[in-house]
Amino acid sequence: MTKPFHLAWFLQGSSVQAWGEPWTGHIGTTWERPELFLDMARALERACFDYILLEDSSYVGESFNGSTDIYLKNAIAVPRQDPSVVAALMTQVTSRIGIVPTFGTYAYHPYLLARLIATLDQVSSGRIGWNAVTGSSDFAAMNFGLPGMPEHDLRYDMADEYMQVCRGLWGSWEPGAIIADRKNGILVDPTKVHPVNHKGKFYSTRGPLNSGPAAQGQPVIAQAGGSPRGRKFAAAHADTIVVHVKGTEAMKAYRDDVHKYMVAQGRNPSDCKVLYLINPIIAETMEEAYDRKKKREAVALTKIDERLAHFGKVTNIDFGRFDLDKPLPDDVTTNGHQQNLEQYRRIANGRSIRETMASFNAVDLSVELVGTPDSVAARMGEVMQEVGGDGFLFSMPNVNRRTLAEIEDGLIPALQDRGLVRKAYEHKQFRENLLAF
Ligand SMILES: Cc1cc2nc3c(=O)[nH]c(=O)nc-3n(C[C@H](O)[C@H](O)[C@H](O)COP(=O)(O)O)c2cc1C
Repeated sequence: MTKPFHLAWFLQGSSVQAWGEPWTGHIGTTWERPELFLDMARALERACFDYILLEDSSYVGESFNGSTDIYLKNAIAVPRQDPSVVAALMTQVTSRIGIVPTFGTYAYHPYLLARLIATLDQVSSGRIGWNAVTGSSDFAAMNFGLPGMPEHDLRYDMADEYMQVCRGLWGSWEPGAIIADRKNGILVDPTKVHPVNHKGKFYSTRGPLNSGPAAQGQPVIAQAGGSPRGRKFAAAHADTIVVHVKGTEAMKAYRDDVHKYMVAQGRNPSDCKVLYLINPIIAETMEEAYDRKKKREAVALTKIDERLAHFGKVTNIDFGRFDLDKPLPDDVTTNGHQQNLEQYRRIANGRSIRETMASFNAVDLSVELVGTPDSVAARMGEVMQEVGGDGFLFSMPNVNRRTLAEIEDGLIPALQDRGLVRKAYEHKQFRENLLAF
């Protein structure tokens, strides 16, 4: 029997989901309440997903014509509630699935972050992960009193130390420190709680952590570094990496690269699960599925400005300043997401910005998955066989209850029947399930 693979879901923030899409009810007014997110957490737990990752950023985009208009009108990454609140609520309606909120290292002192994550890990009985991002936008930095983001690779150097501080704080309570001895009236064994006294290049903290220990000891770390420096950072710290590259060759190359970095740092490659972004389009017949895909592609062509606004938000490039019917000037660089600009340059090949965006495959993510539940399940199995592991991260633009049912009640049984994904959780805690195969 083939080894099963892992599944997770990339949720576009604690926010309005799928604005403008059909089957979303009154999402424009109901989004503030958590019902859809809680339904989603329950559905994906029934489907035995490893985790839900809650994307986040902490600013309103302003990278198109120097204005927030296009972002606000079209709900492009705004609004965004604080992900810790919805994450906490999700943990209370589930018992096995991992919940992974995103927090930027620029926005939290490591003590505050370590305490927040430890608390979430406690209230979820060991099911919390942290999507550790360095941030990329100067606008976000300005919300925290900084003039702008530090330089790209320096952010990862800082994050390396940040991670060391968090690990130290989570380790400041030894296992078994809480004895809860009612007879002698002693709650905590003081010999098992230690200061950290970290004085580093970028951060200082005293410790110990006052939240008490995280249920997993060290909570799960998720990461998505795409640049060479980002990959090194992910390979050093992550239990799971989420990746956006196109095609099985690039998927395999990314995983091999990360494994190489892991071995160089003395880690076992099987201790980190690499998941690839997918956007499956599923229907009862092949014709209907391809028809849906065609409609999605047609809509994408009418939304070039919105897509450029989104692309500009993660690269800090204001495409509104350029003539869209000319190529992007060669001297444009980014201190934001490097991998995205690199991908753009590869596709552009001298073409205008508009033509490049029009030709950019905005529907398929890592690989094309279009068809019936059975055909898509079979293709997912083939892809994993080619790549070698470790699973997929669903990132679907049409998040609604109908889509969730297509996945939970359509695709998942087809995958389970093939022995490609789990039918029941093996363990209680998040990392244990992630490392179960
Ligand atoms: C699937 C996926 C999810 C991501 N989620 C976030 C997020 O929620 N917040 C954020 O600031 N960055 C997010 N990123 C960006 C990455 O952290 C990273 O900055 C990006 O992949 C570019 O890599 P680089 O920083 O090494 O250049 C995500 C990236 C991917 C591929």
